[in-house]
Amino acid sequence: MATREQQLEVVEQFFGGPRELDRLSLMSDDVEWWNGLGKFPGAPGQTVFRGKEEIGAQVLGRAPAPTPPNGRRVDRYDLATVSFDDVVTIDDGPYVFRQHTYRATTMGGRPYENVYGFLFRFADDGLIDRIWEHWGTLQAWETLFQGPLALTDVDEVLQTTPSVRKRLDLERPVPREVIQECMDIAVHAPNGSNQQPYRFVFVDDPDTRGELAGIYRAAMSDFVNRPRTEAPEDNVDRSSAQQQRIAESVYFLAEHLQEVPVLCVPFVAGRTDGNGPGAQADRTDTFWQASRWGSVIPTLWSLMLALRSRGLGSAWTTLTLVREREVAELLGMPYDQWMQAGLFPVAYTKGLDFRITPRRPATEVMAWNHP
Ligand SMILES: Cc1cc2nc3c(=O)[nH]c(=O)nc-3n(C[C@H](O)[C@H](O)[C@H](O)COP(=O)(O)O)c2cc1C
Repeated sequence: MATREQQLEVVEQFFGGPRELDRLSLMSDDVEWWNGLGKFPGAPGQTVFRGKEEIGAQVLGRAPAPTPPNGRRVDRYDLATVSFDDVVTIDDGPYVFRQHTYRATTMGGRPYENVYGFLFRFADDGLIDRIWEHWGTLQAWETLFQGPLALTDVDEVLQTTPSVRKRLDLERPVPREVIQECMDIAVHAPNGSNQQPYRFVFVDDPDTRGELAGIYRAAMSDFVNRPRTEAPEDNVDRSSAQQQRIAESVYFLAEHLQEVPVLCVPFVAGRTDGNGPGAQADRTDTFWQASRWGSVIPTLWSLMLALRSRGLGSAWTTLTLVREREVAELLGMPYDQWMQAGLFPVAYTKGLDFRITPRRPATEVMAWNHP
């Protein structure tokens, strides 16, 4: 029979022992570990793990985890950063219960904090033969297993992705890796003949951002002062409170554009405005227009959704196209070969709580069989 002191020492070693210590050496051969998550990549739905081999592979994460279908990898906590607080240890016969607050940084650099309660049962030889692990599984799932997602509900992301201007966080840097991850997702959008005829240029160089902002403001002034016609787009009623708010927000963005950490300019190959070379000069009908724009805009919208689900935001802007040639020259993308879809400021957003974007109900803009 193991003594009380021996059992407590094993538990202490289990959590506080050196990293090289093989935790499996503290367990019996027929050990069982209950863990309520049921979301280990290599063992979906499984909550009880039996024997050292299975526990080593799945729970202690020694087996290579299969890539989940969403392509995201588990963002493990970094064992070198672990600390325990509020430790409570209770023992009763062959049982030891320990609760603690666990703090660590993930390999991806994000903070992880969770409360764990472990109930251990000891065999006569002083080795652990049962473990019940009670923990904040939602917190663990969202931080460690979901990757760096701030929002996970697809319907919520689709309905709450606005044009963010005033709530772009101009102080917080945007790591290139986050943009890369969002683009890795966005390129899966549909596009004509799967040729992916687009280039997304991300600008984080301050001087170039400043020049883009200058072009944006000059284009805005051209647009505001353009000659008006009878066309509806020349006669938008700006008197409502909502339109006033949009205008105020648009001016805010124009003023601060150079401070936005990343500016994205998406390009699509070919021109549909008659300014392309050779045969392209004639390819201006709706077939060519829809096919070209349809080969870049789905990717753009996917990019905005992927940004939103990671706590970043953007605004769809087309004003720079009034001075498209200047942007083409600045970025070195030949104007006669590439059209620009707009300019997209990218930053973390101040908060995540965006309301559902105000739109007319779908029933007003849809029909069955007859328009
Ligand atoms: C094709 C297109 C062009 C746009 N151009 C601009 C623009 O140049 N500048 C700007 O600040 N917002 C621009 N917007 C953003 C719209 O103003 C915005 O989507 C609209 O007011 C609805 O706001 P919400 O999406 O935040 O609900 C554009 C949006 C689209 C789809």
